[in-house]
Amino acid sequence: MAESDRKKWDAKYSDTNHQIEHGEASYMLKQYHGQVTGKRALDVACGTGRNALFLAALGFHVDALDISSVGLKRLAEAAVGLSGQVDTRVVDLDGFSPPVETYDLIVVTNYLNRPLIPKLGASLLAGGILVMDTFMLDQRNEVTHYNPDYLLKKSEFTEYFQTGYQILKFEEYCVKNSGCGMWKQAIAVRKLG
Ligand SMILES: C[S@@+](CC[C@H](N)C(=O)[O-])C[C@H]1O[C@@H](n2cnc3c(N)ncnc32)[C@H](O)[C@@H]1O
Repeated sequence: MAESDRKKWDAKYSDTNHQIEHGEASYMLKQYHGQVTGKRALDVACGTGRNALFLAALGFHVDALDISSVGLKRLAEAAVGLSGQVDTRVVDLDGFSPPVETYDLIVVTNYLNRPLIPKLGASLLAGGILVMDTFMLDQRNEVTHYNPDYLLKKSEFTEYFQTGYQILKFEEYCVKNSGCGMWKQAIAVRKLG
């Protein structure tokens, strides 16, 4: 599965007209990045790095992980000259464990890997913040061809953070995706310590 993912995303990112991941950083990241004290960040499944670039411009040192070396190369080129630093690393996130108690801020957008979520919590320092934002299964979705295994169930993000975290914000909202409406969930949580 990971090998087909790599091929698919390498092909997308090789197309220089591919602009989907070049938009603004996640709105939830913009709201909560200022609430951490340190500058060590992790961008998970970063793609071409809209979130990593946003953080590096603010002086964060960002570890940026993805399976696509093509996406990471584009990110590394875009990061030259920013005040912070972006370290890119090709990683297959299936079965991956980030280092424990390491990061002030972790962001994951438009990527769902359920077994990884508790490991991301463990990778936060006490007081650190995790921001996640991705698509959900909803009967109102106008795009219906996505694999439901990669779509969140209603309120699912909140289920992972019932103990040991403060939920700062949780929202379900609709976005236009290629012109069609698609429901998403976004959450920001702080690790208690
Ligand atoms: C929809 S893109 C999201 C990119 C970025 N997070 C954003 O929101 O702009 C999904 C990303 O997940 C990465 N990905 C998919 N499967 C992966 C795996 N097994 N390991 C690491 N990265 C993976 C893809 O290469 C792609 O960059």
